[in-house]
Amino acid sequence: MPSVDTIYSQLLKNSDFQRLKKELIQVIQEHSSKVNEIRGVSSPEAKKNFEAALGNMATLKGREPFFQYLSSGVGSGPYVELLDGSVKMDLITGIGINFFGHSHPELMNELIEGASSDVMQGNLQPGIEGAEIIEKMLGLVGEKSRLKKGWLLCSGTMANETALKIIRQKKFPATRILAFADCFAGRSTAMQEITDNPKYREGQPVYGEVTYLPFYDEKMGLARSIDMVVKHMEWEVARHPTKYAGMMIELIQGEGGIRYAPREFYVKVFEAARKMNLAIWADEIQTFGRTKQLFAYQTFGLEEYIDVVTVGKLLHACMTLYTEEMNPRAGLVAGTFTGSYAALKTGRRVLELLTEGGYYGDGGRIEKLSNYFVQGLEAIRAKLGEKKLGVIRASGGMIGFQVLDGTMDQTKNFLMKLFNEGVIAFYAGHDPYVVRILPPFGTMTETQIDIALKKIEGVLTQENS
Ligand SMILES: Cc1ncc(COP(=O)(O)O)c(C=O)c1O
Repeated sequence: MPSVDTIYSQLLKNSDFQRLKKELIQVIQEHSSKVNEIRGVSSPEAKKNFEAALGNMATLKGREPFFQYLSSGVGSGPYVELLDGSVKMDLITGIGINFFGHSHPELMNELIEGASSDVMQGNLQPGIEGAEIIEKMLGLVGEKSRLKKGWLLCSGTMANETALKIIRQKKFPATRILAFADCFAGRSTAMQEITDNPKYREGQPVYGEVTYLPFYDEKMGLARSIDMVVKHMEWEVARHPTKYAGMMIELIQGEGGIRYAPREFYVKVFEAARKMNLAIWADEIQTFGRTKQLFAYQTFGLEEYIDVVTVGKLLHACMTLYTEEMNPRAGLVAGTFTGSYAALKTGRRVLELLTEGGYYGDGGRIEKLSNYFVQGLEAIRAKLGEKKLGVIRASGGMIGFQVLDGTMDQTKNFLMKLFNEGVIAFYAGHDPYVVRILPPFGTMTETQIDIALKKIEGVLTQENS
């Protein structure tokens, strides 16, 4: 994009502004670099105040938090300081936001530049930052991809809503969606219906717009699994001709427990979907940036099949990307906010850091760190036995492993003990539940992974674990 000389661009280039920005980042780094190891509460008084603040938050929100967690606002790499002065190692990163860890200087730079402008941008009066991040993203979708347009939203759920609306408009009068067992799509009325979890829509109406297909089942074998899904699709679409608009898929299920299929499964299912004139929508809100390639559809070599894709989380901005053909008519998608100046600038910088940091491909940083983590988990399993650490599933920076009997109770119990030992992880899936980690591989070292593994082993070795 050609840069135009404006008063704002002069401000950003101004030598005083540049100098002060550097100084500010330095001061922040001097403080954040002290958050560099797991440690306990700083004082009994800090603990008391922390507990009072947590209690107050629970009262205000009407619900107890999952973890006794309130961030102080600062951290470094995988370490984050809590409001009681303790420091934890963060392996879940806000469910996948902080891939570059906490208080990253490159992102601080964007935040400070963002702070020199208004807070938010919108669709009616955008700045250049929105177009910059969309352009950067569309330059990364892959040579075989047909994705040509992008729309910015403020949450993954809204990116998915936009995907659904675009598909429905294009396929009118068809409205229904095929989705997969155990998928997660977000928390709006439409997305909670696509999400295959009845607990997430208790007391809510269901409009009968979604049909669930079984997901790939390793035990069943590839050929039978494909056959079963394709037959299901054919049967369902034949039963309701002209009703189905598209198929939504997470190529790697995050909430579903880090489950994915071999490429062949996706190819056969997508070819069947194409024959049925269904739009193929990949929800990459959790997968984007984390697997062996930037997009999970690239990791599986599926570029040409995707009509619509949604991204969010580690990008710090959310986006729906779609083909020229899917471009909706004016009026269908809009909204007050596209994002804050700081978030849009940060998102563009995240894309640069991701693509310039040697993260992707064979022997890329993500593959190396993922293998290192998984090998460490396998070593714990070999030592303690499968009753302590069971199934391990991983794709790049998405890792799940079963602990103990894999029930919610025992998994949660393990997570709480691990938290008390200073490591934050979360859960996913069911039957069995797995411990889920989305580690900050953008900053993490093998030495830090060793620390995490030691803590995991320590908790599993404890009595009653
Ligand atoms: C696959 C997937 N889709 C959609 C969402 C919803 O995104 P958000 O929470 O930003 O609305 C999530 C969030 O966890 C997700 O993992």
